[in-house]
Amino acid sequence: MQLKLEIKEQIESTETNTTLGVQPYKTQLLKWIGNKQRFAHEIISFFPKRFGTYHEPFLGSGAVLGVLSPNKAEAADSFNPLISIWQALKKDPEIVKNWYRERWLEAQDGEKVEQYEKIKARYNQGANAADFLYLTRAAYGGVIRFRKADGYMSTPCGAHKPIHFGTFGRRVDEWTQRVRGTEFFHREYAESLERAREGDVVYCDPPYSHSQAILYGAQSFDQDDLFDCIEKAKARGVFVALSLDGSKKSGDTDCAYDFPPSLFEREVAVNCGRSMLKRFQMEGQTLEGEVVTDRLLLTH
Ligand SMILES: C[S@@+](CC[C@H](N)C(=O)[O-])C[C@H]1O[C@@H](n2cnc3c(N)ncnc32)[C@H](O)[C@@H]1O
Repeated sequence: MQLKLEIKEQIESTETNTTLGVQPYKTQLLKWIGNKQRFAHEIISFFPKRFGTYHEPFLGSGAVLGVLSPNKAEAADSFNPLISIWQALKKDPEIVKNWYRERWLEAQDGEKVEQYEKIKARYNQGANAADFLYLTRAAYGGVIRFRKADGYMSTPCGAHKPIHFGTFGRRVDEWTQRVRGTEFFHREYAESLERAREGDVVYCDPPYSHSQAILYGAQSFDQDDLFDCIEKAKARGVFVALSLDGSKKSGDTDCAYDFPPSLFEREVAVNCGRSMLKRFQMEGQTLEGEVVTDRLLLTH
C-alpha cells in the first residue's frame, strides 16, 4: 500500500508542473524581436503554483517555456521554419548544432554582409529551418520581417557578430534540458487552445497587430477570434494568461483591445524595458521615455 502511494506520488510529481523554484534565465537560443526572455520569470510568477500541462500556442523563441522548464508541455507555432528548429532540437540536438556551425563557418568564408545575403537568398528560395536558424542569430536586431505580398524575408544583416558555434552549442545543450518535457507542434493557436484541459495553463503571446505588422502572422491576426478561443478554454477550467502590447501608442494609433469585460479577472503590468522595434525603426537613436510596459491579462 505504502509503495503504491509512493509510486502514485512519483507519477504525479513528474506529470504536474510547478512554478516553485523558477529562477530568471536570460540566455536565448534564438534572437527574436519582442521575446520575453528578460521578464519571463515575472510572467510565470502570476501562474498558479501547481498545474497540469503547460501550453504555449505562440512559441516564437520560447522564452517563457525555457524559463518555466515544465515537466509536461505542448508548444506550438504556425510558422513552419521556426517550429522545425524546435522539433529538430527534440529529435537530436546535434542536428541544430550542425546547422548553426555550418552557416557560421560559411559566413566566415567571405565578406560578412555578402555571406549573410547568400544565406538569406537561399532561405527565400526555399524556406527551411537550418538557414532560418542562422538568420535569427545574424539578422539586424533579431527582427525577422517578411514582405507582405510573398513572405520574402527582408531583414538586413545585423551589426553584431553572431555568437560562436561553440557558445551556441552550449546553449543548445542547456535548452535541450529545459524542453525535455515538451512536445512541439506546427499548428494554429486555435488547435493548441482546444487541447488544453481543466487544470492546465495556457500562456499566449500573440503577434502584435498594431506595432509589429511587418512580423510573422501579424498582418492577418484577428484578436476577436483569439478572445473566443480563450473564453471557451476558460469555461473548461483552463487558466489562461495573455500578453498584450501595453505601449499606449504605436505610431499614432491607440492600442485599445476590445475584449469581453468578463473574460479576464486580473491585469498586471510587466516591465519590458525599451521597445526593440522602435529602436530598429529609428536606426539606433536613443529612446529616453520609450519604456514599454506589457499587459498581462489573467482569466483567474
Ligand atoms: C510575439 S511572438 C511570440 C514571442 C515569444 N513569446 C518569445 O518570447 O519569443 C508571436 C508568435 O506567434 C506566431 N504566430 C503568428 N500567428 C499565429 C497563429 N495564427 N497561430 C500560431 N502561432 C502564430 C508567430 O510565428 C510568432 O512566433
